Amino acid sequence: MLNINICTKIIEIYSENDLKKIEEVVRFLYFSKIVALPTETVYGLGADIRNEEAVKKIYIAKNRPFDNPLILHVSNINMAKTLMDNEFIHKDIFLKLAQKFWPGELTIIVKKNKETVSNFISRDLDSIAIRIPRNKIFLKIIEMLNSPIAAPSANLSSLPSPTKFEHVYNDLNTKVDAIVRSFDCRVGVESTVISLLQEKPVIVRPGFIKQYDIEKVIGKIDVCFDGENKNDKIISPGLKYKHYAPKTKFFLFDGSLENFKIFLNNKNNVCAFLFNGEEKEILIKNKIILGNYTDENEMCKNLYTSLRKLDSLNVDVCYLRIDEKIKNYTTFFNRILKASGFSIINE
Ligand code: TXA
Ligand code: MG
Repeated sequence: MLNINICTKIIEIYSENDLKKIEEVVRFLYFSKIVALPTETVYGLGADIRNEEAVKKIYIAKNRPFDNPLILHVSNINMAKTLMDNEFIHKDIFLKLAQKFWPGELTIIVKKNKETVSNFISRDLDSIAIRIPRNKIFLKIIEMLNSPIAAPSANLSSLPSPTKFEHVYNDLNTKVDAIVRSFDCRVGVESTVISLLQEKPVIVRPGFIKQYDIEKVIGKIDVCFDGENKNDKIISPGLKYKHYAPKTKFFLFDGSLENFKIFLNNKNNVCAFLFNGEEKEILIKNKIILGNYTDENEMCKNLYTSLRKLDSLNVDVCYLRIDEKIKNYTTFFNRILKASGFSIINE
């Protein structure tokens, strides 16, 4: 494929009151440019949904499969309603979720309004995914643009999502029109995606908002992270693609710390992802600490940075020990399963 490098402008914004810089970003988006933007979850790569050429550029810059639709980011519930089918049967559930979790880390899939969302934007589906981000800079940009912003995570497809400016820069410099340089993402893992298209709501991607928090608001829901529902129909296109993978071989080791120690003994040029305190027991040279063993949010927040750091170590392979407790950390476990390509070594 023809490889054309473009000049990427870096725009520093550390406050939603820096209106001059925010206007500059809005102008870029208005004139069909694509811009990487900070959100509270991970950095996103945004385009104004009125500019289909710009939305197309996102797919090319990321090398993203064209059948995988983007989340539409809005600044208020009314803007979300303009994108949604007027007759949508689960409007009441949508409103309950939106009022409780927005702005925030929940993406809701609803039936689209055919008048306002083209087939190009929805990638020929009759549904769309919507979210109001919490990041104040991103929110201000949507407000000033006065149009929804389509944005996937701002990484090259299949690589770990970016939680710092440097990650975005490494992946997308010379491929996008601008990158906003801002604070590291506070949450560091993507939003939870819930679909309201079925009779019962179903989580199609676990994320920062937990299932039990959602159930407190709308009652029992289903989960389906493996891509297919009972009718063998793909319920979220993104589920079938490779995700979050480091370039270095990455394996999960299912077993006790004791056996992990024995397993790693005498292995050269390897790295281990560990939890606080374990580094005293594991005597190999390359160790990356993911945080506290009892804190899923912390390990999620450190995961993508750690996967990227791993690739800079030049080791042959990396191992992360899992056990029943880790398997119950639904979001963390989902991401490490995918990052490892589902490669599990049993002790
Ligand atoms: O936290 C986040 O969600 C970040 C920030 C930037 O908002 N965005 C993000 O986008 O992670 P992306 O594109 O990397 O993941 C969006 C997921 C994909 O798995 C996609 O398949 C799914 O949402 N999705 C989007 N529209 C959908 C639809 N109409 N039906 C089913 N799944 C959909
Ligand atoms: Mg992504």
